Amino acid sequence: MKLIDGKTISEEIKKEIASEVASLIDKGYRAPHMAAILVGHDGASETYIASKERNCRAVGMTSSLYRYEENISEKELLEVISFLNQDEEVDGFIIQLPLPKHINVDRVIAAVSPDKDIDGFHPVNMGRLALGEDAFVPATPCGIMELLKRAGIETAGKKCVVLGRSNIVGTPMALLMSRNNPHANATVTICHSKTKNLKEEALQADILVAALGKPGFVTADMVKEGAVVVDVGIHRIEDSGKPSGYRIVGDVDYDKVAPKCAAITPVPGGVGPMTIAALLMNTMKAYRKRVKIQ
Ligand code: GUN
Repeated sequence: MKLIDGKTISEEIKKEIASEVASLIDKGYRAPHMAAILVGHDGASETYIASKERNCRAVGMTSSLYRYEENISEKELLEVISFLNQDEEVDGFIIQLPLPKHINVDRVIAAVSPDKDIDGFHPVNMGRLALGEDAFVPATPCGIMELLKRAGIETAGKKCVVLGRSNIVGTPMALLMSRNNPHANATVTICHSKTKNLKEEALQADILVAALGKPGFVTADMVKEGAVVVDVGIHRIEDSGKPSGYRIVGDVDYDKVAPKCAAITPVPGGVGPMTIAALLMNTMKAYRKRVKIQ
């Protein structure tokens, strides 16, 4: 069984980005700039945002954080987005989700300029992705594709089963895997909460992507011998045996599933670090669109 080491591969990508940024700055260009909007004080969102900012700086990019309380109105939030759309110094920005219930997420996402949409959530980018055009691709599936490529996992002609159909992971993952490209070209099935015989579907997979958001959902009896398993889940589970009082697990019952696999992504240290690396890749892409490099 091969461990697909997202931590090491993400470090490689960040080194490549850092060296590109350093060389741009050497040539007199400004640093790429990522902005983030954070509403409220959700613990997981705070952690993600802190990590995104830390990683931006680590590769020589600049970042800014626009923080608002839970009670910000949708109108005020749309004004902030309009400001960031026009700010020449901002190459791309994200609005950390989830947003409070009184705010319409679809309207907020649609207000972001598609050229600054480094999360790839805007309908124009989702449409471009579906059409096989150049697009900003959501960071998690973008990171997974890069991870499989760099880990030397063959996808062409393979049967890929994606568990979960979210706009952020499952749906774009299925689109990317089925694209006509040597690092994709898979035959894809999406399974969801209404799928009949989900276990039988999963058992067909040469590549199984678990993105349903349920800790330990994928058990050994759902995985074919020799399959490649990609675990997208990140869950905190209470564990009194740990100094922190918790441990992080994925959507896959790792200890039982790993021995059956040809390769598997661990949690933590698999997909998670690749998501951040992919967001940095998207920020570079947004920067290159805006700054004409000679
Ligand atoms: N919340 C959970 N995942 C994401 C993500 O990829 N981007 C944003 N903006 N919010 C999230």
